[in-house]
Amino acid sequence: MSNIAYIPGDGIGEEVTRQGLKVLNYFNDKHDLGLKFEKFDLGAERYLRTGEIMPDGVLNKLETFDAIYLGAVGDPRVEPGLLEKGILLKLRFYFDQYINLRPIKLYKEEFSPLKGKGVKDINFTVVRENTEGIYAGIGGFLKKDTPDEVATQEMISTRKGVDRIIKYAFDYAQKYGRKPKLTVCDKSNVLTYAHNLWQRAFKEMGENYPDVAKEHYLVDAITMKMVRNPEIFDVIVTCNIFGDIITDLGAEIQGGMGMAVSGNINPDSISMFEPVHGSAPDIAGQNIANPLAAVLAAAMMLQQLDYPDLAQKTEAAVVDALSKNMITGDIGGDLSTDEVGDYLVQSIKTNEEGENDAEWD
Ligand code: NAI
Ligand code: MG
Repeated sequence: MSNIAYIPGDGIGEEVTRQGLKVLNYFNDKHDLGLKFEKFDLGAERYLRTGEIMPDGVLNKLETFDAIYLGAVGDPRVEPGLLEKGILLKLRFYFDQYINLRPIKLYKEEFSPLKGKGVKDINFTVVRENTEGIYAGIGGFLKKDTPDEVATQEMISTRKGVDRIIKYAFDYAQKYGRKPKLTVCDKSNVLTYAHNLWQRAFKEMGENYPDVAKEHYLVDAITMKMVRNPEIFDVIVTCNIFGDIITDLGAEIQGGMGMAVSGNINPDSISMFEPVHGSAPDIAGQNIANPLAAVLAAAMMLQQLDYPDLAQKTEAAVVDALSKNMITGDIGGDLSTDEVGDYLVQSIKTNEEGENDAEWD
């Protein structure tokens, strides 16, 4: 039994998440999961209609849910950043979603932009700290709009904040890692206070995980390694800004934004799952957007809701669709968004029926 808040959002958000819902509804009916969905009208349309971005009542109501499934927000008719800040960042901070989980997984050999690196080489997870660092919003201006202007932006690392993200990353590596190995990515040679704290926290926490191999890369070196030897990585833990940057590099080596998924997680509160891409107003309403990232985000939500087998079946359907070219035009197929969603459900069904047949044999 889980209650899922569904925020389709703007542009292609609704088109792509509708395909994720098809998969979730199929599992819900077939396996009696008792998932309940409630749609929330948030985003550009509501803002333009009523001036509201995230009313307090909605935030309070969201508290009663188990997870949030989100499309994307952003619209050319609205000042850039307003909805992103007012909805995405608002939810992230309100629910203290301190983990940003970003799997970097290549699902199809041909999508690799790296010569000689394929599906078996590009498969790791970045755990990004999601609430502190240079994005904490602490700073200010002095003598603004004068020739003597000064602007500061503080990098905040709290011992609690660093400990909890590193602990999550070690636990994640221990549970899901292939080697298992945890790499910490920082700039401790220059950020001699903030990332010195990271270094000490990593070392001390690591003593509780003798079975997890430990490794350290400076952020500049890790970008080179991700391109040259992505196969060495299993799980990477890093601060907010470096996570922001290296996960975009990661999205590119996993075959582009159309495949990239993000979980904003607080294991003790309400987590939010979304495709990494935006609302793509240039292609909205045409039923041509690629729904695979949105469907993989639904799979990540299933994993968090403790249905790992259903998450795995969803991923298998995506791999099947890719291998048979049952995909949208942006990645070389010729299906519509809805047709891809229908194919994925069909693929899961066929797969499950095959399993049942095998049981009867
Ligand atoms: P975008 O990701 O929406 O689009 C970039 C390019 O990729 C466009 O050419 C678009 O057509 C294409 N694209 C994106 N997703 C696609 C998909 N599923 N299938 C096929 N093609 C796809 O980024 P952009 O254009 O910078 O931003 C558009 C709006 O989205 C802005 O308002 C921005 O602020 C917002 N945005 C929201 C995000 C979120 O809700 N998490 C994340 C990124 C941007
Ligand atoms: Mg980014």
